Amino acid sequence: MQSKPLTILAIETSCDETAIAILKFNKNGKFRILSNIIASQIKIHSPYGGVVPHLAAREHEKNLPYILKQIKPNWKKIDYIAVTAGPGLSPCLWRGINFAKNLAEKHNKPIISINHLEGHIYSSGIKNYESSSAKQPLAQARIMNYDFPALALIVSGGHTQLVLVKDHLKYKILGQTLDDAAGEAFDKTAKLLELGYPGGPIVSKLAESGNPKKYDLPRPMMHSDNFNFSFSGLKTAVLYMVRDLEPLSKKQTKDICASFEQAVIDVLMHKTLKAIQKYKPKTILFGGGVLANKLLRSTIEKQIPHPKSNIPHPKYCGDNAAMIALSAYYHAIKNTKQCFVPTNINKLEANPNWNF
Ligand code: KG4
Ligand code: ZN
Repeated sequence: MQSKPLTILAIETSCDETAIAILKFNKNGKFRILSNIIASQIKIHSPYGGVVPHLAAREHEKNLPYILKQIKPNWKKIDYIAVTAGPGLSPCLWRGINFAKNLAEKHNKPIISINHLEGHIYSSGIKNYESSSAKQPLAQARIMNYDFPALALIVSGGHTQLVLVKDHLKYKILGQTLDDAAGEAFDKTAKLLELGYPGGPIVSKLAESGNPKKYDLPRPMMHSDNFNFSFSGLKTAVLYMVRDLEPLSKKQTKDICASFEQAVIDVLMHKTLKAIQKYKPKTILFGGGVLANKLLRSTIEKQIPHPKSNIPHPKYCGDNAAMIALSAYYHAIKNTKQCFVPTNINKLEANPNWNF
């Protein structure tokens, strides 16, 4: 694909992170992240043990102008505004979209509507994080040379999907979770162990000093004859085990976390390796908040060695706007129907259940 110099300001508000980033793509096929700010809402939602949509939307509304003020974009140099239009929480998506529309009208810019999951897939392009000094804290990387077909594993709080990427922006879902997403299972397990929210980072931290072989937890659908997942049974198995063992010692909690984490990783790896065997992809892309998990990262590195596999830098696994700009870059180059000229932006709508 031809590279083209472009600067994109991207907005992400699909769930509980308010994020704005500016990425500059050079004609030599490199990009630089000029700004990347993420305002997390963990403190707001943690008393509820999960994201409360109307509170999240209110926070987005408050955070967006505040972040933009910090970024101080040079509008003359911005070619496109990109915004996440789905999937996600409807009131949250609309806050981002309306904010993008106001900016587009004010500065006469086109908008690109972006699928959040596609953003997670393209986040794997931010793996060469060149930040050796505090003075240069943001990434500069070469736009990835994707060899197709590629296989993408998305593991986030809302989704667990194996996707065949036939070409840029061309997807076929091979399998997905039939109930809870893997990240959701981490969050729910943390909740039933009364560890706090969001569960993923807490469970994985405790798992580091636990014994993953201590408790024999199920690996749901691991050997099913398809690429679908199911994690709700695993969470229920933890629930019954906790009821039997209560009150839990610290050691038992750590061992449960480690055993749970290992069960999730075993299923993810087994299905991904099976898809690799069947589809023989030339590149494997990973994305989503759960890819911040250290054990998952090291297991992938062991079982699917570099350079075939592309895991995003940990900073870009969770929701961010840099990945939205990266995905928008390919839409801009191809001028897809997701690009809206300023006179047409009223047609851009949120699509909370947007799938590939
Ligand atoms: O991609 P993401 O930021 O948001 C969604 O699009 O859902 O993913 C958030 C999910 C949460 O469920 C969180 O618990 C999980 O990613 N997560 C982790 C870790 N860090 C975040 N799960 C396991 N281990 C981690 N270290
Ligand atoms: Zn996400």
